[in-house]
Amino acid sequence: MRPAIWIQWAILQGVPRAILSIQARRADPLARLLVGPQRGGDPLTLIEQIRARGQVNRTPFISATADHELCRAILRDNRFKVTNPANMGLPRPITWLIRRTDPQLPNPAEPPSMLQVDPPEHSRYRHPVAHAFTPRAIDKLRTRVIEVTNELLDRLASSRHPDLVADFAGPLPAEIIAEVLGVPEEVRSRMLDRGEKGAPLLDVGVSWKTFRRAMDSLQEGDKEFSDHIDRLRREPGDDIFSHIIRDGNLTRRELTATAVLLAGAGFETTVNLIGNAIVLLLQHPDQLAMLRDNPELWPGAVEEVLRFDSPVQMTSRTAGCDLELAGQHFAAHETVALLLGGANRDRDVFAHPDRFDITRANAKDHLAFSSGVHACLGASLARMEATIALQALFERFPDLQLTGTPTSRGLTTLHGFRHIPVCIASTAVGHGNAR
Ligand code: HEM
Repeated sequence: MRPAIWIQWAILQGVPRAILSIQARRADPLARLLVGPQRGGDPLTLIEQIRARGQVNRTPFISATADHELCRAILRDNRFKVTNPANMGLPRPITWLIRRTDPQLPNPAEPPSMLQVDPPEHSRYRHPVAHAFTPRAIDKLRTRVIEVTNELLDRLASSRHPDLVADFAGPLPAEIIAEVLGVPEEVRSRMLDRGEKGAPLLDVGVSWKTFRRAMDSLQEGDKEFSDHIDRLRREPGDDIFSHIIRDGNLTRRELTATAVLLAGAGFETTVNLIGNAIVLLLQHPDQLAMLRDNPELWPGAVEEVLRFDSPVQMTSRTAGCDLELAGQHFAAHETVALLLGGANRDRDVFAHPDRFDITRANAKDHLAFSSGVHACLGASLARMEATIALQALFERFPDLQLTGTPTSRGLTTLHGFRHIPVCIASTAVGHGNAR
């Protein structure tokens, strides 16, 4: 399988990587943004440079927009398709080669992951998942979120120098998504490790080493989820995934793709939301004080974190035909990077966008969960997890402090921290449990 995977990498990642590297050396801000913060520089500065070039920043290979109105309009316009080789109008021999060497792994960035499929096929994958996330199912998860949060807080109380990613922001969503998928205890830690290795696949132009590691982890995940699906077919549980298997009428490959997408989307994003919120609040003690006096402001604070430091910084769409939208012309097959994090700093929508303000009245207008047919299916679950976890953490440990600079994950699309070293100080408040 190695040569096939190398060909896939060369076409889908290697060539874009080479082009982006050349463009980044020529100081093109979009290329510098796409090569990632380690090689390209500060994303917020680059986004503002892109914005300064107009509503759409066009380069020979890809366009980009950080304009809120245009991002939203593109996401909601069915003339725009998801970005995949078929929609990008690549030459036939190339698409043939991509098909011939497809390792058929459950890659969230490739069909049949619902993220990468257009309507009408898309609704066949999305509908059973949306249908299984019933209010009763979410309510059951709420009880589990509270339980897990309290267990983690109890453990934190006996640790004087914890890392709030490894010890709090990570384990909570991992446990909850494992619950959604009905995954047994022994598989959970392996799922986390695979998520970490697979997350770079959402970026453009990843290195051969990173790609190969991600493919290996997808291959292991494929096998493990296949066995898991067999188990749930024999003995269905009351978990959401058992309902999807029973009612969804999906093939095994479609089910493994759905499981891997849910595992990745449910974990890799929510860990960033909780981590980003912890860092922002510790860096803005005035906002934290406001939350202490007015706990009813917590849901709004979570929206402001989603806006200000969006866990998913970008997505893209490809024009399905020549078209006009919001006064802009898009040529068929033109791919547009939609800078969601940039749209969430658009001053035409958000006054003083660089101010972190938990009382911002229109924070919820952010595009952090995207919009249109692919809008996030787990938004209410993510909001619920973050609100419960953050309120309980700061009530239980009011003297929480950073003890070092939080380290970034270094990815482009997903924005979050790898480590948040803190000191929880001596005055843990016993009654600050999640409820
Ligand atoms: C803070 C947490 C989260 C953020 C910021 C987030 C963000 C997003 C975004 C931006 C998209 C759409 C991408 C696009 O339009 O191309 C998306 C799609 C999706 N998300 Fe989330 N997500 C989060 C949590 C979750 C959770 C907890 C779950 C599941 C339990 C989930 C499941 C999904 C699924 C299944 C899709 C694909 C929807 C489709 O293609 O129709 N997400 N998410």
